[in-house]
Amino acid sequence: MKGIVLAGGSGTRLHPITKAVNKQLLPIYDKPLIYYPISVLMLAGIRQVLIITNPSDLTSYKTLLGDGSDLGMEIEYAVQEKPRGLADAFVIGREFLAGESCALVLGDNLFHGQSLSKVINSAKCSVEQQGGAVVFGYPVKDPRAFGVVEFDSRNRVIGIEEKPQFPKSNYAVPGLYFYDGQVADIAAEVKPSARGELEITSVNSAYLNRGELSVELMGRGMAWLDTGTPTGLLKAAEYVEAVQSRQGYYVACLEEIAYRQGFIDCSHLRRLGEKLKKTDYGKYILSIADEVERVNRA
Ligand code: DAU
Repeated sequence: MKGIVLAGGSGTRLHPITKAVNKQLLPIYDKPLIYYPISVLMLAGIRQVLIITNPSDLTSYKTLLGDGSDLGMEIEYAVQEKPRGLADAFVIGREFLAGESCALVLGDNLFHGQSLSKVINSAKCSVEQQGGAVVFGYPVKDPRAFGVVEFDSRNRVIGIEEKPQFPKSNYAVPGLYFYDGQVADIAAEVKPSARGELEITSVNSAYLNRGELSVELMGRGMAWLDTGTPTGLLKAAEYVEAVQSRQGYYVACLEEIAYRQGFIDCSHLRRLGEKLKKTDYGKYILSIADEVERVNRA
């Protein structure tokens, strides 16, 4: 399975913060926002990733992540000339996907929780083995800004609506989607919505109409954080700081995940830590390498 991170958009809802800086490069406490969605793909064992961004931001992403080899990954880049909508990811990414299954994660979505690995790996396996698509439902107090799931009286999914004025449930669809190899063809058929965007909800509805969409509900223990407003950014940063300082485990430390997933070995991990050793982030990476070597010696 391959991965796509959609990291374009105009970021107008965060102006003036995002007037000169791409939203997904903003810091969430100690790392750029895009680290968090990339960590999700890595936790699903995905090593081939396409990052789609605006023409003006391409160089910044290449500087930040390079070709991915530091993390034992293959990172490619593509440009979205205009924010035409989320389904455009598959029009732009068609060649990269080459008919393979994929996970799409939105560059501004932050997920964290004990069951995250289990949830995403089971979605990945389901799509790889049975085909179709898997998306998630996450309970929120006010779902009007999201894709919203509609259930029938027997709790079967019968629809997904994009930003409904009168939501039919409080289950929002977060920005993490798993699709089989049909997705580029399905996305190519999507027509712009009333607001002029190629909606991801149209792709999901197409899978639903074929009887090939599964909606997995995320439970209480999972954090899906909003980064769409200045307050959302601040709260997300506070959340990451609280978890990291309390537990001592980092959220979305890509080097750690690359090591634990077997993408890189311990000496490689140590080299990455050495380069960042002036920061607590770098010291954390070095502490993992120390611990691994201590256990190996014992
Ligand atoms: O966050 C989950 C929600 O994301 C879903 O529940 C909705 O169904 C889905 O439409 C989307 O809604 P948003 O209004 O939050 O999407 P937004 O326009 O903010 O874009 C999400 C991210 O994708 C953001 O980081 C910018 C990027 N983006 C967006 C568009 C429209 C692109 O890179 N290109 C685009 O064309």
